[in-house]
Amino acid sequence: MIVLGIETSCDETAAAVIDGRRVLSDVVHSQVELHAEYGGVVPELAARDHLTNIRPVISQALSLAGHTLASIDAIAVTCRPGLSGALLIGTQVAHAMAWSANRPLVGVDHLVGHLLAPFLEFPSLPQQQEPRFPFIGLVASGGHTALYRVDGPDAALIMELGATRDDAAGEAYDKVAKLLGLGYPGGPIIDRLAQQGDPTQILSKKPMPAADPLEFSFSGLKTQVARWVQSHGIPGDSATLRNLCAAFQRCVVETLLDKSVAAAQAQGLDAVVLCGGVSANSELRRRGQEYCAAQGITLLVPHLRACTDNAAMIAYAGSFMAQRGLDERGRLAISPRSILPRLTKKGGGPRTSPHPR
Ligand code: KG4
Ligand code: ZN
Repeated sequence: MIVLGIETSCDETAAAVIDGRRVLSDVVHSQVELHAEYGGVVPELAARDHLTNIRPVISQALSLAGHTLASIDAIAVTCRPGLSGALLIGTQVAHAMAWSANRPLVGVDHLVGHLLAPFLEFPSLPQQQEPRFPFIGLVASGGHTALYRVDGPDAALIMELGATRDDAAGEAYDKVAKLLGLGYPGGPIIDRLAQQGDPTQILSKKPMPAADPLEFSFSGLKTQVARWVQSHGIPGDSATLRNLCAAFQRCVVETLLDKSVAAAQAQGLDAVVLCGGVSANSELRRRGQEYCAAQGITLLVPHLRACTDNAAMIAYAGSFMAQRGLDERGRLAISPRSILPRLTKKGGGPRTSPHPR
């Protein structure tokens, strides 16, 4: 099945064409420069920029794949979660294209896309080990940090086990980088600095809410960095800056790994898949392999280009919906929130997160 995917949930305008698992084209227009001076994504600017770029990005994806609207079988578009104005651009364009070409349209949860990204095959990249259902999926991105039990490639088969109570991991990276005057997005910058730092010199407390081992909290860690900066100032020498970045990163990486392994053990599963922008982190990828292997768990991480936002993962997730004959033309609603089911706690009703994003 040839599927055109469209992604505009945050600050990347992306379109891709896939054939089964094979990525035929994967075009991403990043808005990073547009938002850099504000230290974070400005929703109105994001929506306007999507509007400017969506048509050329889609045209490029189709032509690089050697396809036209007439030769694709279905269109998949991110419809949640994300910035409403940004989602609206992608879904409206997808609607118009689906009507004009009389092709089915399916709306994809961005988080399902991230969780299925490790299945994508890029012709120019080495083939990776394919995950097998069921597995534990950790989505760690700028907007989300949550653990899932993934029993199949369908939103109904993906159960949230725990999520962040406050900041997402990527958000913590971005906020700490802003605090240190390092620029946006903070993840890759801190990652680079941390590689040459000593994580044992500064900061000590890991962000681990004791009440629930599968929940995350990163705002306390961000506050630790803020307090350190309040008393010492932004490090003027590069060695201290690197040590601070390394200490922050060590806390985030260990927390993500500890909780992923705890989720696998709690569910009796032996595979963990890391996805979302933070899974591009060098330390998480490197230490994750050893750490999980020591616990008898296989860790799978998507290719770097499939970790951050892209439309190939949306096309792939949408292909299963299209194969089931779903056609949401005319009734595709956008929502700023994910609606993946949450695990029901023992003795209680369905759990609701205080911070749905
Ligand atoms: O998945 P993504 O591209 O967009 C969202 O859905 O949010 O994730 C973007 C996030 C940003 O917060 C960025 O700082 C973080 O991923 N990120 C990283 C790295 N590369 C990107 N965080 C840590 N280390 C990295 N190397
Ligand atoms: Zn994302």
